[in-house]
Amino acid sequence: MTSTTHALFPTPVMIAPEILDNAQIAQIKTDISEMDFASNAKSSALAHSSLDMGPLNPMLQKALIPVQDKLVAFGRELFGEELNWTIKEAWVNILETGGHQAMHLHANSFISGVVYLTDSHPSANLIFQKPESHTSFVFSNFNARSELNPFTAARWQVPDIKAGDLILFPSYMMHGVAGNEGEQRISLAFNAIPDKLDSWGYSVRFNPD
Ligand SMILES: [Fe+2]
Repeated sequence: MTSTTHALFPTPVMIAPEILDNAQIAQIKTDISEMDFASNAKSSALAHSSLDMGPLNPMLQKALIPVQDKLVAFGRELFGEELNWTIKEAWVNILETGGHQAMHLHANSFISGVVYLTDSHPSANLIFQKPESHTSFVFSNFNARSELNPFTAARWQVPDIKAGDLILFPSYMMHGVAGNEGEQRISLAFNAIPDKLDSWGYSVRFNPD
């Protein structure tokens, strides 16, 4: 009999191409040109629009309307049920040549996403990092002989990304950008929450306000 190896408990990452068309991208770029930007603390070649805590910026809310259906579909994959999803915060990232983004994750959120307003050079595509133990020793066997496969890999980089494409991922995933060797890259990032989660009658409600 042939033996079988099962790949257990995979992590979903959705790539949805061409969520925005060229006219929508041009409109958003015009709108965001009036926003205030501040440099990232760890990379001067990366700037973010201010992240207002409170009601979502109406302009960004409008820009993200095309994302909603994919958000619901991804939420269904993540939680097994169609839930009401709200984008509770959104911000714009401008990554210049040479800029990078340190590994991080997004707290107080369940689904995070990025919509690209320009093409992304392969070097500037998001890298996801496999979760590691934080309270015990970790052993690995990374060396010239060891084979890279879905079980040994510690990182995964998003492949080809074009202007208008969307990426959705669970907010607990560590992610970052190694270093942009291409031209300026502009993206619109956001965090989303469902209205509630229900485990056999024990439910938790979330309020974006
Ligand atoms: Fe992020």
